[in-house]
Amino acid sequence: MKILVIGGGGREHAIIWALKKSKRVDKVYCCPGNAGIAAMADCVDIEVDNVKALIDFVKYEWIDCTIVGPEVPLCAGIVDTFEKEGLKIFGPNHKAAQLECSKAFSKDFMRRHGIPTADYKVFSSSILAEEYVRIKGTPIVVKADGLAAGKGVVVAGTSDEAVSAIRLIMNDRAFGAAGDRVVIEDCIEGEEASFMAFTDGKTIIPMVSSQDHKRVFDNDTGPNTGGMGAYSPAPVITPDMEKVVMEKVMKPVVHYLAKEGIIYKGILYAGLMIKDGKPYVLEFNCRLGDPETQAVLMRLETELIDIIFGVIEGNLDKVKVEWSNRHSVTVVLASGGYPGKFEKDKPITGLDKIMPLKDVVVFHAGTGYKDNSIVTAGGRVCAVSALGRNVKDALDKAYSAIKLIHFDNMHYRKDIAHRAVTLKPE
Ligand SMILES: Nc1ncnc2c1ncn2[C@@H]1O[C@H](COP(=O)(O)OP(=O)(O)O)[C@@H](O)[C@H]1O
Ligand SMILES: [Mg+2]
Repeated sequence: MKILVIGGGGREHAIIWALKKSKRVDKVYCCPGNAGIAAMADCVDIEVDNVKALIDFVKYEWIDCTIVGPEVPLCAGIVDTFEKEGLKIFGPNHKAAQLECSKAFSKDFMRRHGIPTADYKVFSSSILAEEYVRIKGTPIVVKADGLAAGKGVVVAGTSDEAVSAIRLIMNDRAFGAAGDRVVIEDCIEGEEASFMAFTDGKTIIPMVSSQDHKRVFDNDTGPNTGGMGAYSPAPVITPDMEKVVMEKVMKPVVHYLAKEGIIYKGILYAGLMIKDGKPYVLEFNCRLGDPETQAVLMRLETELIDIIFGVIEGNLDKVKVEWSNRHSVTVVLASGGYPGKFEKDKPITGLDKIMPLKDVVVFHAGTGYKDNSIVTAGGRVCAVSALGRNVKDALDKAYSAIKLIHFDNMHYRKDIAHRAVTLKPE
């Protein structure tokens, strides 16, 4: 069977790596892909939101199924368009994807159905939003309603910070129409975790838990990034907590969406804050997280393609999803300067030395080819993922492998999984 994966980051590399474990998968295409993906799939230079060109390509190549990695095409309704053409595609449709594409929609939905989340108000006037901040006090969280590539949220410690965020989003329109409305919500202090699940709109199968590391520097300092590393399992999601999240969050979401006429199919991702032993939803994503996917898929033992078809065909209840009980870690190697300005086209060496290592995989993100060698092409360049008998073992494997890789100004966090290591000393 022929599969197309849409996207070109570490998440998509991990998806393709997992797909290729199956004998049923004969050929994988990726639009647009990256240098690492090119070693295991045919990369085709079509942008992720060029739905018309993607459909033409899928028809021309007789592709059996398309898997959408990033949120932008999902929010643009790529699934609806493919389905209208009779093409198989994995991901939520336009209405279902609103859970991620509009934070106001998702907060209102949670409030309607009693799903635990911070108290909030939605504004379409910056003056009223600013007034609300002054009444509410700080800390307070300001969020652009729409997609902002992870840059539309400010956790404000002072009213001035909150007011600047509101003005940046609504008046300066830093994120365009995504800032037509803002959500202002109470700040919840606790520990974050990512909870991802597969669902066909009836059955929900949770993935193993994971935790991302958003800040660029060790000890969670410095500016926010797309994610500097991840690990799985995350100790904060205990088996009891998993049950609570399933009962209070995941099942109600899928159930009440269906009651509102929306069948959610694909990945449902809840960004959680765990406070005093209770989960609160910070946001939903309608796709896999990056870099959590790299850590989580390292532990998947069932063939990913079987789960994907279970979701698309609505018989996920027939699929038994199994996970390795080993621990995984993922360490992102970033370009010097990231998440600010950085240079590209730095040759990357040592990737070949990782190939023979057991339990270690490098997933590429911002990589490309220049003069026949692999060079950096983005802020997050690649992620070294490793499996181990415990978190420390996985960390040892990942960090030893990183020593073999080099590019100019490479930087990475040295404290991935620090919460797991301090919680559970080996
Ligand atoms: N209510 C909140 N209380 C405390 N921190 C929050 C809250 N909402 C969001 N955050 C922080 O801001 C980050 C980004 O917010 P999120 O809603 O996940 O938006 P996005 O991922 O779209 O940028 C979260 O990972 C979390 O660290
Ligand atoms: Mg988030």
